[in-house]
Amino acid sequence: MATEQRKRNIVIIGGGIIGSTTAYFLSHHPNFNRERDSITLLEATKIAGGASGKAGGLLALWAYPSCIVPLSYKLHQELAEKHGGVDRWGYRAVHCGQIDMYGILHKNKAPSSMDKDRLDYVSLQKRSEKALGLLRAAGVPKELDWVAADGLRAYDEMGTPSTTAQVHPYQFTTSMASLAEEQGVNIIYGSATNIDQDAGAVKSVTYRPKDGSEEKTLDADTIILTAGPWTKTIWPDAPISALRAHSVTIRPSRPVSAYCLFTSIDLPRGNTRKSKTVTPEIYARPNNEVYACGEGDTLIPLPTSSDLVEVDESRCQDIVDEVTSISEELRDGEVTAKQACYLPNVSRGGGPMIGETKVRGLLMGAGHTCWGIQNAPGTAKCLSELVWEGKVKIANLSSLDPKKYM
Ligand SMILES: Cc1cc2nc3c(=O)[nH]c(=O)nc-3n(C[C@H](O)[C@H](O)[C@H](O)COP(=O)(O)OP(=O)(O)OC[C@H]3O[C@@H](n4cnc5c(N)ncnc54)[C@H](O)[C@@H]3O)c2cc1C
Ligand SMILES: *[C@@H]1O[C@H](CO)[C@@H](O)[C@H](O)[C@H]1NC(C)=O
Ligand SMILES: *[C@@H]1O[C@H](CO)[C@@H](O)[C@H](O)[C@H]1NC(C)=O
Repeated sequence: MATEQRKRNIVIIGGGIIGSTTAYFLSHHPNFNRERDSITLLEATKIAGGASGKAGGLLALWAYPSCIVPLSYKLHQELAEKHGGVDRWGYRAVHCGQIDMYGILHKNKAPSSMDKDRLDYVSLQKRSEKALGLLRAAGVPKELDWVAADGLRAYDEMGTPSTTAQVHPYQFTTSMASLAEEQGVNIIYGSATNIDQDAGAVKSVTYRPKDGSEEKTLDADTIILTAGPWTKTIWPDAPISALRAHSVTIRPSRPVSAYCLFTSIDLPRGNTRKSKTVTPEIYARPNNEVYACGEGDTLIPLPTSSDLVEVDESRCQDIVDEVTSISEELRDGEVTAKQACYLPNVSRGGGPMIGETKVRGLLMGAGHTCWGIQNAPGTAKCLSELVWEGKVKIANLSSLDPKKYM
């Protein structure tokens, strides 16, 4: 293979985790020459202003799709070692489990007598030997001592610290963008409005600068579309829809052990005896923070930019009520953030799409559904090989080929 000698103009559209990590790998590739080539990261609003700043941050060898997961999991480990990710973005190995519980609602000022009995029981119990015994009898590991013993129905291990890890997604994404910048990547704030073509190949990107000034154009021989749920607004053929999801962070009343929990919680509904089942995910994080997210909704369509995402307070409160119903440490803690974002969903199933499109020079890394944090480094490494070496060598991404979808 002849080494690339010609000057390259590369524009990445979208500074979420996929675009920022792609900027990192492109600029750390040996074929990149910062005197000769240019790499621009074009971000409409704010680096990690969307899902990439508000996700949970779970990494797992048991995630999907399998053609990229092991590579990406390993790259997360390597990036953390190389750049001090433990301190810089909260990288650590974690336990992961599925827990089924009965919850107790605390939001009612006057709980029904049935609820009240249970509530008293929970608050009296604390972490007594008896309570811990109950948890252990149900198979709950000894260190997972921050769920209420009396509500427990079942616990199943999903991952161990050798197959499961986590990062703080906002810290990770902004670190990738800064490390790319240090290596010569130019970050521009503006919203791409058109991918300009000439004879079936990309020519330039037109964008509206964030400061409100007149539209500008960036010449490009390579354009990488990494606009997450917004991909369709720039490239209408992309089969990517958007799904809103709310999340909260809580500072627990005492530090909690490193567990990420997928839950199924039966909650009493009002004064009736009927219950409803909710399934928030609860991730303990370093620095005394717990993250929790709920299910998606389709009530409000994707707004034009990440700073216009509407947060529905009541949906955040639902998540708080749900997770505090199974843990005193969360109930007695302090809610530190209530937020929402949009997940990129591949409407035909099977995302993400990574690789070349039918337009010469137009690449795509989008549609990462619920595993974009886990799969970002793998996606970015493959895209950097495609750009600098002409093909992806480190993984077989044929099943993720964008040409199959559009
Ligand atoms: C509640 C929740 C929890 C999650 N938890 C996890 C988890 O634990 N583990 C995991 O692996 N994944 C998780 N995910 C999934 C993960 O967040 C996403 O897959 C990932 O963030 C997608 O990244 P992205 O860069 O493709 O998109 P985004 O983060 O949406 O970034 C796209 C960027 O493009 C910019 N943009 C849009 N239009 C334009 C334009 N015209 N011009 C320039 N820029 C533009 C936007 O401003 C934005 O910054 C979670 C998602 C949600 C919603
Ligand atoms: C997400 O994609 C799936 C196909 O994988 C589809 O069934 C579902 O309707 C999509 N959801 C939204 C909100 O677009
Ligand atoms: C890549 O994977 C596909 C299945 O997804 C398979 O059909 C193909 O043979 C593989 N290619 C190589 C070179 O291993």
